[in-house]
Parts: sequence; C-alpha cells; structure tokens
Amino acid sequence: MKFFLDTADIKQIEEIAAMGLCDGVTTNPTLIGKAGQDFEETIKKIASIVDGPVSAEVLGKSAEDMVTEARDIAKWADNIVIKIPMGKEGLKAIKTLSKEGIKTNCTLIFSVAQGLLAAKAGATYISPFIGRIDDIGQDGMELIENLRIVLDNYGLETEIIAASIRTLAHFEQCALVGADIATVPSDVFSKLWDHLLTDVGIARFDKDWEDYQNSLK
Ligand code: E4P
Repeated sequence: MKFFLDTADIKQIEEIAAMGLCDGVTTNPTLIGKAGQDFEETIKKIASIVDGPVSAEVLGKSAEDMVTEARDIAKWADNIVIKIPMGKEGLKAIKTLSKEGIKTNCTLIFSVAQGLLAAKAGATYISPFIGRIDDIGQDGMELIENLRIVLDNYGLETEIIAASIRTLAHFEQCALVGADIATVPSDVFSKLWDHLLTDVGIARFDKDWEDYQNSLK
C-alpha cells in the first residue's frame, strides 16, 4: 500500500517526505484554506517536494468549467492529479480529461456505484471517504472492501485512495483489505510509528543497561 499525506502543510510534507514515507499528497479546498497560502503556489511547492502524485481539486460546477480549470492546473507540474468531485458533471469532465491524458482523482465517493462509474469514465484514482461514512453510522471500511472486489472483478486499473482516514485502525484495515493507497492526515500519520509497548520496551532496555553499567563500577 502506498502512503499519501492528506494535507497542504508544507512543513509536515517535507518532514515525512525526508523519511521516504510520502508516496504522494492529496489536498482539498478545506486543507488549502487551513494552510493559509495561495492555492497555485502551495500546489507547485508540494509538487516540487514530493516524488509522486499531488491532487489539486477544481471548484467549477459544470463539466466545461472543471475541464478548463483542470487543463490550467495540470500545467503547474508533471505530477499533478486533478481532483474532480463525483457527479454527472464530474464524470463528464473525467472522461474528457482522461482522453487528454490528464490524470484524475474522483473525490467524494460514498457508494460502490459511484466508484464503478468513476472508474469506467477513466478516473486514475477514486477516493472513498471512510470517516465521513462512519460519521453517519455506517461502515466506511466496508466500502473500501467492496470497491476492491468490484475493480478486481472487471480488471479496472483505477486505484483506490482510501480517504477520510481518522484512526490507526482505519489505516491498518485499509492495508488488510487491499486499498492501493491510504491518504493519511498528519495527526494520524504520527501515530503509525507509536506503540505503548515500544515505549515500555525502550524504557526497560535503558533501565537494564543502566543497572548493568552500575554493576561494573
Ligand atoms: C482526501 O482526499 C479527502 O479530501 C480527505 O481525506 C477528507 O477527509 P475528511 O473527511 O477528514 O475531511
């Protein structure tokens, strides 16, 4: 499974990229707003740091507007992927862009039908939102499992970016059910390397070493 960072925070991206753990980045208008920087500058900067796909979302509502925005954004760097919201207009835009060789990430996927339609339209990636499905009392992970089955059933090459990841358990389940990518916010990312027993183990090794050194005196 590839690891994407779900943030527009340049410092966080630089840190995780330097660790060799950032295969790509996803952004959305909320995350760009939180970062508080100019959209174009932020995306160009991220694309220069990351050796992998960087998703930037369009805001147009008609297919024509989405395609116009996408063509412009796609010129900012070679590794940019255009994030297109699911819907009839989004599907039309994805079809046009895929014919032009512009990579797309169909976002706001909440059902198998939506994921299948986006894949058939030619989306490079689909982004099912786990956490937001859990928020309404349903099982977000089940959607990832079902999309995996459906894409495999028909040999569709569209990759699943498991999005709206809120917990370590979400991340681990994504790997178990075969999501191609998990896009992880930085607060969850920093939990991936932590474990209480690791901390206890280090403390015990330190103490045992200290006791041993004292015994030599
Ligand atoms: C990523 O592409 C999505 O925009 C993001 O994961 C949404 O996460 P949220 O539901 O926590 O806002």
